[in-house]
Amino acid sequence: MSSYDAIAALYDPWSRSVTEDVDFYVAQARKSGGPVVELGVGTGRIAVPVARAGVHVIGIDDSEGMLALCKARAEEAGVAERLDLRLGDLRRPPVLERVPLVTCPFRALLHLGSDGERLEALRAVYLVLQPRGRFVFDVFAPSMQDVEETNGRWLEREPGIWERADWDLQRRVLTLAVRGESGETAMQLSWRSPEEWRALLERAGFEVEAMYGWFDLRPYDGGEDTVWIARRPAV
Ligand SMILES: C[S@@+](CC[C@H](N)C(=O)[O-])C[C@H]1O[C@@H](n2cnc3c(N)ncnc32)[C@H](O)[C@@H]1O
Repeated sequence: MSSYDAIAALYDPWSRSVTEDVDFYVAQARKSGGPVVELGVGTGRIAVPVARAGVHVIGIDDSEGMLALCKARAEEAGVAERLDLRLGDLRRPPVLERVPLVTCPFRALLHLGSDGERLEALRAVYLVLQPRGRFVFDVFAPSMQDVEETNGRWLEREPGIWERADWDLQRRVLTLAVRGESGETAMQLSWRSPEEWRALLERAGFEVEAMYGWFDLRPYDGGEDTVWIARRPAV
């Protein structure tokens, strides 16, 4: 059972303010022509707009609750036929197709807890991609200011939805607890530096085409977020 099952109904209101990445991922999907494999597709916050833009999406998630909401959202938007949802682990995605674009939006890779798991996932992405295909994802590493402002405190992120971050700076693991009327959970997010992500991508065989500091493609200037475009080489 995934830690997201308990908060599937809470996820959309919880992430309501996260909107800046949607147009970016839709543009990447359009540019690729599709189909797109989205790892950690969740409730379709990105996948449904991508499908609405006419691009076929294969969405992978290990939470049945999140996938059920994604299906409902796609049906409501009238794009269910462009969304192929599959229950599975992003380290071993159940995908036999070869596609021009794999995405992993909204920091889902931080759910992997070791370099072994990160490499397993990156190597799996490599195999799903066509030669010259792209892997586009975003991750974060916290600033000390963020850690100091939030550590160990329950904060109301959205009306009625409370979030508590406990930062383990030694292990570089964030334990994030969320609670609201319809459910509560705790999950662990494990962060790495941009240099470490670059090294892992290269070990998995990727070329890093670009790394930005935000979805508006501003250059990375040492901030918390990084947005990556990696490419599987031609041969
Ligand atoms: C932060 S949410 C992102 C959801 C969606 N991509 C978005 O941008 O709103 C992370 C998603 O990754 C899924 N997830 C976490 N670990 C996973 C794993 N090992 N395999 C498959 N899905 C996973 C969770 O169930 C959740 O739906």
